[in-house]
Amino acid sequence: MPAQINRILLLFTAFIGLFLVVRHFLIPETFGQYGHYRGASLDDISSREMVFADKEDCFACHDDIMEILENEMHAGLSCLICHGPGREHVDDPQLGNINKESGREFCGRCHDIHPSRPLDVVNQVDIKTHHTEKTNCIECHNPHALWEGME
Ligand code: HEC
Ligand code: HEC
Ligand code: HEC
Ligand code: HEC
Repeated sequence: MPAQINRILLLFTAFIGLFLVVRHFLIPETFGQYGHYRGASLDDISSREMVFADKEDCFACHDDIMEILENEMHAGLSCLICHGPGREHVDDPQLGNINKESGREFCGRCHDIHPSRPLDVVNQVDIKTHHTEKTNCIECHNPHALWEGME
């Protein structure tokens, strides 16, 4: 075999050897225990504290709101999308641990005119000019109930 091939082979062997050594030290201990991932990550993830409630959890105590919401303008939305993750409130429903935002900016997150938002999916108004005589959207639109302006 020509000498230059020998040298290349030697170099390759050294690289592969080095790769195997580095790989040995970098791969976590439980990798491959169940599949192509780190087995211990299951325990890591399941030990995290839950922050999201279930929409059904809210109905246990607020069934009145469920009834209003069920057929009305925000019926398709989860309580959590407006009121935050909610787990803390479900576990200990004292005032203050649930999101109650209702300002123009808040409603504008979904309803402010935005070119990337299809109008047939969500109706939009310019929150900078739409009925600015009132500071808060909920003075005219109850987010839980049917709004008379709707068919
Ligand atoms: C174990 C019963 C219980 C559960 C479950 C529960 N709540 Fe409540 N919630 C309460 C009580 C009690 C209050 C305070 C009294 C009131 O104003 O009705 C309250 C108040 C609220 C308020 C008004 C807060 C305020 O400061 O005026 C909102 C908004 C709310 N809950 C949303 C939710 C949402 C969303 C869920 C589901 C993630 C939920 N709740 C689940 C019992 C519960
Ligand atoms: C589109 C956003 C939106 C959705 C969806 C929504 N809410 Fe609300 N909710 C609000 C706003 C805004 C207020 C008014 C807060 C205030 O009065 O300052 C409110 C107030 C409340 C209150 C306190 C006042 C009251 O009417 O008793 C409760 C309780 C509540 N929501 C529960 C729920 C539950 C349960 C769901 C799911 C079934 C839900 N909300 C879905 C926006 C929403
Ligand atoms: C997470 C997104 C979201 C948030 C936040 C939200 N909405 Fe909506 N809203 C919707 C969707 C989706 C509909 C149903 C489709 C439609 O008619 O635009 C709707 C419907 C409406 C309608 C009926 C529009 C029509 O076509 O006649 C009004 C009015 C409205 N929302 C007001 C509010 C107000 C006020 C707030 C703040 C308290 C709010 N929304 C917060 C998503 C949202
Ligand atoms: C003074 C009362 C009032 C306030 C405050 C108000 N609206 Fe309205 N909204 C109306 C009326 C009335 C209409 C019917 C169309 C019109 O006159 O603009 C309407 C229509 C809408 C529509 C449906 C638009 C359509 O094309 O059918 C949406 C969505 C809406 N408003 C969201 C909001 C949001 C978000 C806020 C807060 C930034 C808000 N509104 C504040 C009275 C109000």
